[in-house]
Amino acid sequence: MNRLATAVGSVKLKRPGIVASGILDETGPSMARMLSGGAGAVVSKSIGSVAKGGHANPNFIETGCWTMNAMGLPNPGIDAFREEMEVAVAAGKVIGSVYAASPAEFASLAGKMEDYGAAAVELNLSCPHAAGFGMEMGTDPAMVRSIVSETKDAVSIPVWAKLTPNTHILASIGRAVEDGGGDAVVAINTLKAMHIVPEFGKPFLSNRFGGLSGRAIKPVGVRAVFDLRSAVSIPIVGVGGIYGHRDALEYIMAGACAFQVGSAVSEMGPGIFESINAGLKEFMAEFGYKSIKDMEGIAHE
Ligand SMILES: Cc1cc2nc3c(=O)[nH]c(=O)nc-3n(C[C@H](O)[C@H](O)[C@H](O)COP(=O)(O)O)c2cc1C
Repeated sequence: MNRLATAVGSVKLKRPGIVASGILDETGPSMARMLSGGAGAVVSKSIGSVAKGGHANPNFIETGCWTMNAMGLPNPGIDAFREEMEVAVAAGKVIGSVYAASPAEFASLAGKMEDYGAAAVELNLSCPHAAGFGMEMGTDPAMVRSIVSETKDAVSIPVWAKLTPNTHILASIGRAVEDGGGDAVVAINTLKAMHIVPEFGKPFLSNRFGGLSGRAIKPVGVRAVFDLRSAVSIPIVGVGGIYGHRDALEYIMAGACAFQVGSAVSEMGPGIFESINAGLKEFMAEFGYKSIKDMEGIAHE
């Protein structure tokens, strides 16, 4: 029996860990490599309609406690991404992440991801450092609802919406996804943040602010998933600061049916999924849990 099997709605996963968007997933071969390392699926880098350069260096900083980036959604554009998807899809389950500036553009990108063989599409409604995209759209429930419903009308694969923690109306945004017909919510993307170097008297990132990820954001992510569990009845995928099986368990017990790992993969490599899987199996055997489902949301009871 595979105790680690789970499902995000109709997307069945042999293992509950998924590579988060933006982490070693810019090319087909890198996504394929991640899939062979114990992840149940991989989310692609967020892709837009046309090629986009990112923000200038420095755009990334890693400390022991947190990581901050302002990559600015660099990507080759949806048409050029076809061949990367073809390589990745041959190796396993790929969720195609897209970003756009309007509901119609989201719908069109999602249609292409479906054509390329994506198992689901993840709408990036949450990037905190790309003007006109991401979080700027994902904090307006009416906009979120129309993006999700227009995308649902355009594709037959499941539609996941990735949410931002940079709001006090997360529950309303989650409900807007559900009302629009969304199949799952993914929480959380990075927190809008800044790091200043005292010697320079200036912000470190060229973009000045960026998105905080890594160990420091786990309690924020767990709280977000816990709140969403009470607000929506569609599946929840947890993400933010997962480095080991105990972190993953917090998200599952808060209400997630699967989880994504980002910063820890770039710090520790794809082998992290095998070690999380081994830890989960050991914990489940010790505490008598037969499936991920058995543990989902139990912190609410
Ligand atoms: C370098 C970097 C690039 C990222 N790029 C994307 C992206 O393209 N699309 C997206 O939805 N999230 C992106 N993210 C956010 C992650 O997918 C994830 O939601 C966030 O980092 C929190 O998880 P973590 O603490 O495990 O890293 C990026 C994160 C990092 C660190």
